Amino acid sequence: MTLAYWNGTWQPLAEVTVSPLDRGFLFADGVYEVVAVYDGRIFELDAHLDRLARSLAAVRIDPGLDRAGLAAVFQRLAADAPRPAATIYMQVTRGAPAQRSHAFPAGAQASILAFASALKRLGRAQQEDGFALVSAPDIRWLRCDIKSIALLPSVLAAQNAAEAGVLETVMLRDGLVSECAASNVFVVKDGKVATPAADHRILDGINRRIAIRLAEELGIAVEQRDVAEVELRAADEIWITSTTKELAPIVRLDGAAVGTGRPGPVWRRVRDAFDRLVGQPA
Ligand code: PDD
Repeated sequence: MTLAYWNGTWQPLAEVTVSPLDRGFLFADGVYEVVAVYDGRIFELDAHLDRLARSLAAVRIDPGLDRAGLAAVFQRLAADAPRPAATIYMQVTRGAPAQRSHAFPAGAQASILAFASALKRLGRAQQEDGFALVSAPDIRWLRCDIKSIALLPSVLAAQNAAEAGVLETVMLRDGLVSECAASNVFVVKDGKVATPAADHRILDGINRRIAIRLAEELGIAVEQRDVAEVELRAADEIWITSTTKELAPIVRLDGAAVGTGRPGPVWRRVRDAFDRLVGQPA
């Protein structure tokens, strides 16, 4: 049985029923978070709560729970989350008013759903082989900094990767790298690391921030700036980061080898630091 939090109640996920008028269902009018849980401990909860607050404020949804209330929901789910690793998904929509109408309804209460799932980490042996990416145009909107549940372009990009038999699709806009369907991108050239700046064009990933911090603690500077598609294709190393993929080395892009075609030395140093931080081997 998977336990779910649903609008102030705790019940089996399979028994949660949602109104057809919920604005998440009708308009994708909501935001979400995904946090990792390692051996029952939530990874970087404060950073995720900060980002959830930013997403909610950006779309002007009042979740009806304060930060401590939201944290308590995450903590309750973490206590019983699958081990050794899990994720907790939380989404907040603008609720289910009596009528469908685009503008904000008066008096509707936000709907909050949260539940945990087992996380199958990308194992060390798989990491040592490395992963592949394909590229596609970034067809999303211009507020990718909001962690919106309106994910259709990301769904299509992820399906594109699945059909190509690769880990992710890297999205390109105006000759620049944005990010993958559900992860951020880093490139390494001549020992220098760069990643797209966290502006409106990408989600400011929590593991992106962790990777930057860990690299800097190792004395490896990370430039946050525009990254051109040509840099991506000429990179010695590419990594992608996310809560679920952690810090994954990319060895093929659109069928061509990245660098030597093996995970690179800069990735390895940051990855080792990541595993130490998480406290369990992948
Ligand atoms: N997605 N960029 C996009 C578009 C994402 O959807 C995600 C995460 C990231 C990485 O963010 P973080 O490091 O905070 O997980 C970047 C989650 C995992 C998801 O949608 O399931």
